[in-house]
Amino acid sequence: MRELARETRLSAGMMVYPMFVCPGKGVREEVASMPGVGRQSAERVVEEAKEVEGLGISGVLLFGLPEKKDERGSEAWSAEGSVQRAIEGIRKAGLKLLVVTDVCLCEYTSHGHCGVVEGGEVQNDATLELLEETAVSHARAGADVVAPSDMMDGRVGAIRRRLDEKGFTGVAILSYAVKYCSAFYGPFRDAADSAPQFGDRRGYQMDPANAREAKREAEMDVEEGADMVMVKPALPYLDVVKRVREAVDVPVGAYNVSGEYSMVKAAAGKGWIEEKRVVMEILTGIRRAGADFIVSYHAKDAAGWLKEQG
Ligand code: PBG
Repeated sequence: MRELARETRLSAGMMVYPMFVCPGKGVREEVASMPGVGRQSAERVVEEAKEVEGLGISGVLLFGLPEKKDERGSEAWSAEGSVQRAIEGIRKAGLKLLVVTDVCLCEYTSHGHCGVVEGGEVQNDATLELLEETAVSHARAGADVVAPSDMMDGRVGAIRRRLDEKGFTGVAILSYAVKYCSAFYGPFRDAADSAPQFGDRRGYQMDPANAREAKREAEMDVEEGADMVMVKPALPYLDVVKRVREAVDVPVGAYNVSGEYSMVKAAAGKGWIEEKRVVMEILTGIRRAGADFIVSYHAKDAAGWLKEQG
């Protein structure tokens, strides 16, 4: 009867698995604060992507690390960049899974901010052009979906126009429309080596105290051409997931971020919680709040457990 009456279901197909691509060959470095997650060179990412596809997970979300960082983050749009090489590898391997790419500059800039910095301030409009370049370079390499996570104003419209101009009309935009300035990104910044070298991201990421603003951000991005929107982090913002779900008609994703993952892993490692039950409860909660899909570092484990259950 429980099966019959269940209101919320989980499947591997509603999940996206994030991965970190680094330069080089044959490289895999574990991320200390994220057990089970590594930074890997492109060909290793392709191997893991095969496993991800085999588990029935719908897509991967790729983050890149550069050879070297500079003021403008120029490796973000390099045709030989880590992400671009991983995308090409996945396409060459004939994988059908959705290749989603994170479009941002913070992993590539020497100062670690998500945009161009002048006079100690992030410059919104000057940043747009670089994000457009980056999105086009991902599309050219074979990405299906580009996901801008920088939180500059007007970037969805700018990226849409540029993709269309370059003939990539079929590439979709998943906007990190509602991204809070969160301490839960801590372990990610270790993984991507992207902590800001001065100041913080409060100037462009949202105040955790605001929910009405989330609705406005999501509506604006849909108007500018976002095909899907995302709320991030997930757990402290389930009310926001619900509000955004009600506000827009496009698919809504939730990003179960690094810090949320690390907390579970740390407690499970100490034997304080039952990892499998906790993870499934978390993912179910995010779905119940209204997320159509979930980006999570737990995706592979969860997909495996769902398979076992049959
Ligand atoms: C890049 C970006 C971040 C995350 C995704 N894209 C970090 C940040 O904004 O500092 C965080 C993801 C995670 O914590 O898992 N702007």
